[in-house]
Order: sequence, then C-alpha cells, then structure tokens
Amino acid sequence: MARHLITSALPYINGIKHLGNMVGSMLPADVYSRYLRQRGHEVLYICATDEHGTPAELAAKERGIPVDTFCAQAHDAQKAVYDGFELAFDYFGRSSSEQNREITQHFARRLNENGFIEERAIRQVYSPTDGRFLPDRYVEGTCPHCGYDKARGDQCENCTRVLDPTDLINPRSAISGSTDLEVRETKHLFLLQSKLQHEVEAWVSLHEEEWPQLASSIARKWLTEGLHDRAITRDLDWGVPVPADTWPELAAEGKVFYVWFDAPIEYIGATKEWADAAPAGEVRDWKSWWYEADGTVRYTEFMAKDNVPFHTVMFPATELGVREPWKKVDYVKAFNWLTYYGGKFSTSQKRGVFTDHALDILPADYWRYFLIANAPESDDSSFTWEHFTTTVNKDLADTLGNFVNRVLSFSKKRFGEEVPAGAESGEAEAKLGAEIAGLLAEYETQMEALQFRKAAAALRALWSAGNSYLEEKAPWLEIKTDPDGAALTLRTAMNLIHLYSVVSEPFIPASAKAMRSAFALADDTAAWVSADEAKSLDAVPAGTAFTVPPVLFAKITDEDLESYKERFGGAPE
Ligand code: MF3
Ligand code: ZN
Repeated sequence: MARHLITSALPYINGIKHLGNMVGSMLPADVYSRYLRQRGHEVLYICATDEHGTPAELAAKERGIPVDTFCAQAHDAQKAVYDGFELAFDYFGRSSSEQNREITQHFARRLNENGFIEERAIRQVYSPTDGRFLPDRYVEGTCPHCGYDKARGDQCENCTRVLDPTDLINPRSAISGSTDLEVRETKHLFLLQSKLQHEVEAWVSLHEEEWPQLASSIARKWLTEGLHDRAITRDLDWGVPVPADTWPELAAEGKVFYVWFDAPIEYIGATKEWADAAPAGEVRDWKSWWYEADGTVRYTEFMAKDNVPFHTVMFPATELGVREPWKKVDYVKAFNWLTYYGGKFSTSQKRGVFTDHALDILPADYWRYFLIANAPESDDSSFTWEHFTTTVNKDLADTLGNFVNRVLSFSKKRFGEEVPAGAESGEAEAKLGAEIAGLLAEYETQMEALQFRKAAAALRALWSAGNSYLEEKAPWLEIKTDPDGAALTLRTAMNLIHLYSVVSEPFIPASAKAMRSAFALADDTAAWVSADEAKSLDAVPAGTAFTVPPVLFAKITDEDLESYKERFGGAPE
C-alpha cells in the first residue's frame, strides 16, 4: 500500500468560489482521496486558503476591516462551503499561518545561500498621495494592448495579457484614485530561475510522459520560452515578511514575499499545520511526507490549466534551488475550463453558479456527481441547467435512486423487513455477477488512471446493470408464480444496492452512506469490494434487517429548472 500525498490548488481567500473552481481542483482531489482511502492506502489530502497579495488587502479595505480579520472570516466562510460539499480534507490550512511563514523564510534563505536570489533595483509606481508604492492591482489604468480602461497593474481582465503596473496608460491609484503617480527606484529580491532552467528541464523530462498531455504541453511551452528571473518580493503590508537576519534593509522597508512565492510552499506549511493540530496522544509526522520522503510517497496535485506553469516549472525550480530533499510532485492532474453556457464563469461579474448558492438549492451529491461526470478533462465542458437537470433526473433519480427505492419497498411489502432467502442463485445471477465484476474492474482502472469522466461512466453502467437485471427478472410478476424466485431476485438486487453504496462513495458520499445504512450489518464501513468478491453478490446475507431510506434523489421539475434559469441567468445574450 502506497502513501498518497494529495493537494488541490489553494483557492484565493477573497470570494466564494464558483463551480468551475470546484471541478478543476478540490472536488476531483476529494474523489480520488476517498477512493484511495477506501482501497486501504494511507492518504493525506491537504488544501488551504491562499491569503496573501493585493486582492485580500483591497477587499479588506473596501469593508473597512483589518486584513487579518477579513482573511479569518473569509477562510471560515469558504471552509463551511467545502464542508457542505463533503470535501474530506485531512487539513484545510491558511497560507498566512506561522508554519508557512517559517518554511517560506527558510526556503528564501536557502535559495540565497545557494546563489539563486539576487537583490535588484527596479522602477516601481509610487503614490505620494497614498505615501506608498503601488504594486500589482494597486494601480489601474488603460491596457496598452486592447485599450480596456479598467485594466489592473498585474493583468488586463479584458484581453488576459499579463502587465506590469508601469505599462498602464493613464494610471491611477486603486486606493485613492490619485493620478499623481511617479516612478521611483526601489530594491527587490529576484529569484534567478534562469540558472535553474536546465535542472528543471531534466526533472520535467523524467515525468512528462506520465503526465496528462494538458500538463506536459504547458510545462514544455514554458521551458521552451525559457525561465526568467522574477521578482519575488512586494511592497505590501500583508504577506510573509522578508527575514531581517538575511535582508535587514529590505525587511526594514517592510517588504514581503510575493503571493506566488509563498502559496505553493503552503502545501508544506499546511501539512505542518495539520501535524501541529494533532489531538493529544496522536503523533503526526509532517516531515515524513515532504522531507527525504522515501519512494513510498506518491504526490498528486490537482489544478486548473492556468495553474500548471507554477506547479510544473516554478515551484519545482524553487524546490530544486533549495538544495534540500523536498518532495516534488509525481503526477499533475490538470483540468480545462468549465464554462457557463459556453461563456466564462466570472467571479468579478458574478456570472454562473457559486458554490454556496449551489448548496442552497440542492444537496452536495447532485453537484458532485454532475461535475465529476462532466469534468473538463480532455476539453472545456459547459454547464447548462438543462444538462444538469437531465443528468440528475436520469442518472441519479431514475437509474440509482429509483432502483434502491423500488427494490427495498417492494421487498418490505412482500417479504417483511429482512432480506429474503429465496432460491439459490441461477444463470441470471451468474451473468449479472460476471457483468458487475467486469464493470467494477473498468471503474477501478479509470480511477487509478485519474480518468474521472470514464470512471463516472463505469459507475453509471454499474447502476444500469442493476436496472436491466430487475427488468429482466421482473420480481413483481415472478412473485405471482414463483415467490422463491422473486425473493432471490430481491436479495440479489439488495446486494447490488450494498455494492453501489461502497463504490459510489467517492462520488456521492452522503447518498452512499444512506444506502449502506439501510442494512443492519455489523460492518457498515465503505471498505472496498474486489471485482472477484463483487461477483458472488452475497455481502448482505438473507435475514439481514433493513429499512427503506427516504427518497435518495428528488427529480428536478420543469418549474425548478425555470426558476434556476431565472435566478442564475440562462444562456448568455
Ligand atoms: N490561488 C491560486 C489560484 O486560485 C492557486 C494557488 S496554488 C498554489 O489560481 F500552488 F500556489 F498554492
Ligand atoms: Zn487588455
């Protein structure tokens, strides 16, 4: 059994995320973690809020509260939504933690000792009105490329080009609106990534064949363009401070590390947070996952494609330059975009479905299943309310939910509250068993390969196999002529329900639990069932008491559909 370290890209602190963020990072990481845990692996799934940088400072200013208060509140708000989605993190940390500060400063010192950091004087926008430098988003103005007049200093939202604050035409302060700006010289730390180019290249070539095409092609593109030295400090209040023991002058000026320098380090920081939060008596060895981790740790990262350069090239460059045996990623699972009716989900324009609103209208399992079954793996995929409705009604309500309800209610009505014995398994059951075993093996193969859409298809096929068997045997007719045969059919179908409860767990954990607890079994864990064990369909023996759970999935009606479209907006004009 391997030890699996799993991380999903750290969500920015400001704002509740939309479904596109969820499907491209945290949700598939949770599905994969759950699956591996069920298979008996040791899993550590770590995530955190990405708290530093100008957006948090600006959002706090807007609300008139201190930035640390803002972040603490925003962290809790996000965590509540992720709990609602049943994301089973081992730890959900904060990049502003003490632990991350320590490790980030340590990394910077080591990089410096190894000759990979250099102090350089650069020209930066300064606002005498605000009495400070204005990095990144603190400057707004007109984009020199497309003419958009609300472009931010780090990037133009309209044409997506990356900018430097000094590029903007008619620049103004995002704090005071002042246009009285000057360019002043100031010192910053630069990470000499160009010196690490060859090492990163060699490291990438060891992995790229195994990575999905989306991840390896982006990594290659960045390497081909060449790694550039980049500024890793900023003139901000909110961030990991530059350590005074190493850079007294910069520390005195209040410089902090750039958010993209400390964010990936928080994967490690949050692991230490997890260890430090261990309940009395439990020992959590965070270092064994990250430092001199022997070959038994396999590290898988989940992220959307815009994050790939940071994870395949820049963070590995940092880790390599530290010259200490920090664990580097083994497998990068990257996702394309989920669109909203073919257009962009946009946090700033409030377009699309946000995760908190999603949970307001329907339980997590509906979203989890739909999103994973339509994950933007090989291409972008589109969210529409129509597609969502059809998928929920067909797969969840008709194929799975109805099967469970029909079988249990009918059996209760005709045979009482225990699983009936009935006849010995016959040909139909042998055929069903073989089919189930084949589909389960397929499901496992796709899960191991992190092919989530294909895994969802195999799961759906498992659910369908039960329906076909039931239609074929038609116990509601059988009962009239052959009650023993009907009992066998129902007992077999109940065993399928139990199997579904185990194998559906990664996708729809709450419903899986409801299915499992229908049966009064001594072992009601979701421990995996091998394809071979599944074949005999006898995990739930005759005589086991059961109850009929409430309807698992309610159908979405035409009226519901209309009201969702009205509330969230349908197809873009
Ligand atoms: N907050 C970033 C985003 O949402 C992701 C940070 S991932 C990490 O795009 F590696 F930096 F942590
Ligand atoms: Zn532009």
